[in-house]
Amino acid sequence: MLVTGASSGIGAAVARAAADAGATVGLLARRADRLEALAAEVGGHAAAADVTDATAVTDAVDRLARDLGGLDAVVAAAGTMHVGAVGETDPARWREVFEVNVGGLLATAHAALPHLDAGSSFVTISSMSGRRIPTAAGGVYAASKFAAHAVDETLRREVGPRGVRVTTVAPGFVATELLAADEPGRPDVVSFRERMQALGLTPEHVAAAVVHVLGLPPEVCVVEYALVSTAQQHG
Ligand SMILES: NC(=O)c1ccc[n+]([C@@H]2O[C@H](COP(=O)([O-])OP(=O)(O)OC[C@H]3O[C@@H](n4cnc5c(N)ncnc54)[C@H](OP(=O)(O)O)[C@@H]3O)[C@@H](O)[C@H]2O)c1
Repeated sequence: MLVTGASSGIGAAVARAAADAGATVGLLARRADRLEALAAEVGGHAAAADVTDATAVTDAVDRLARDLGGLDAVVAAAGTMHVGAVGETDPARWREVFEVNVGGLLATAHAALPHLDAGSSFVTISSMSGRRIPTAAGGVYAASKFAAHAVDETLRREVGPRGVRVTTVAPGFVATELLAADEPGRPDVVSFRERMQALGLTPEHVAAAVVHVLGLPPEVCVVEYALVSTAQQHG
């Protein structure tokens, strides 16, 4: 099984939960030191790559598939977030969000799909922000996650006929490092991060959902799995 974004948060929790359930995991993200530590912990394999570099992703996925003896599941969790209204945001940040959340997802699918046979799974960690626009400040991120839902819908048409299952997991807030790089001192970023921490699910909640989806019989495909904390369900 391959997990992108495995160096922290949801991806790392998915890797741990899948390993606990008996999978051998291949771990992909940029921070090699974190991947190596997690690989040693769970008995998996690590390959550092930036998902915005499609050639590097293909090399890393091919290497991990070789190390693992093939792939039976992929969980695409690499992602980034930006908080800020369109009118106030540096366009370089929009590009980064789209390059990672959309381009990175496409690069992962492009590299991994040739390794997946009937009964295997491709799971994308999208977001509740890919189902509705929560706030103006989250709009660029939400647009990238709407695109992630569209990519998955496309993949279902592309690989569904040969029995590969494609699932979109859409969590609400999750307490992770997701906003750590987004201008940490800005008051709106600070208050958004505080809401994520206070109202968020844990990465382990999302990992349990992913392991549940992967454990279903091969004739069952969960199209979308949306989950929020009880505290966030009305917000
Ligand atoms: N936290 C939430 O509230 C929430 C809610 C809904 C959905 N999500 C989604 O869940 C996914 C995981 O996010 P998280 O909350 O677990 O945040 P996180 O702890 O910051 O994890 C993000 C992961 O993505 C990797 N990543 C980022 N840019 C990358 C790049 N260019 N190339 C390769 N890997 C890259 C990071 O690793 P490196 O920095 O080592 O590369 C890290 O492993 C994201 O797609 C996010 O949009 C999060």
